[in-house]
Amino acid sequence: MKRLAQKTVIDKALKTLREGGLVGLPTETVYGLAANALSDEAVARIYALKARPQFNPLIAHVASAEQAMMYVAFNDWAHKLADAFWPGPLTLILPKKKDSGVSLLTTAGLDTLAIRVPAHPIAQHILKNLVFPLAAPSANPSESLSPTTMEHVQQAFPDLYVLNGGPCIVGLESTIVDLTQKVPVILRPGSVTLQEIEAVLGCQLGTNTDKTIKSPGQLKRHYAPSIPLRLNVTHLNPKEALLSFGAHDLKGAIREINLSPQGDLQEAAANLFAALAKLDSSEYESIAVLPIPPQGIGLALNDRLKRASS
Ligand code: TXA
Ligand code: MG
Repeated sequence: MKRLAQKTVIDKALKTLREGGLVGLPTETVYGLAANALSDEAVARIYALKARPQFNPLIAHVASAEQAMMYVAFNDWAHKLADAFWPGPLTLILPKKKDSGVSLLTTAGLDTLAIRVPAHPIAQHILKNLVFPLAAPSANPSESLSPTTMEHVQQAFPDLYVLNGGPCIVGLESTIVDLTQKVPVILRPGSVTLQEIEAVLGCQLGTNTDKTIKSPGQLKRHYAPSIPLRLNVTHLNPKEALLSFGAHDLKGAIREINLSPQGDLQEAAANLFAALAKLDSSEYESIAVLPIPPQGIGLALNDRLKRASS
């Protein structure tokens, strides 16, 4: 019975996507708002539902590196990174192939394409059964938090068909690496770290100097709750909720969520957006955030918190 129910749900999602509709898709990073990346009409529906500024291009999701090569031109770096990290939470920016068929709305008119192979079994299954890539931004309205559970997506978009893949195990959007410049550059930090990428490529990464857009969540207010966020706090204000990490001695908060009582950065990342969503309430005047060590995935955590506080 359970199998049958699951098959019906998957079939409905596939049918919706083939007809140019939108589906809430679980990935290991965050839930995506997925549509056919080759279809202008389908991608336009994503922008409309998210109320997303047109200049922010989308990531194309495919089932494998082989499929990725149909849409982008691989170089040596791409081969190495795809071998090491795909399927997984890494997005590569590469030159878009001329005959790729990818909608200009997906790339926002750029001649490069952001592409990734997600590891989540449901995303994998869906992508393997489609003959087109899926454009999928995080499934949240522009400028609000990225969703890490099916319930988050349903709250934001009550009419959307959402596949339930459980809570996302990574919990932060993918690391984005631009491979179209003289040296590879990280445009958005994520759980695949700078050190891991440098180790695989055997070279030092460059710094992101192109301020025009190029990139990610580059909209500063990309990850923002509706009440102010104070970072690296050492004391609590009245009516302030506390977002903590590890053991600490800041007592007396009216509400506290600890991202990881053990001080595990991976666990903290997986919990971040859900915790911010819970604390984003008019009951509190602001959210105080304890310092989080800026190492490994801690860099990405601090990046998201900084955006959320700006
Ligand atoms: O983990 C993720 O990456 C999630 C899941 C659903 O896969 N997706 C996600 O998509 O975070 P989104 O649209 O919220 O963020 C994609 C980022 C955007 O900030 C965009 O600016 C950047 O990727 N991007 C897309 N195409 C680009 C390109 N050609 N050059 C530079 N940056 C690009
Ligand atoms: Mg997003």
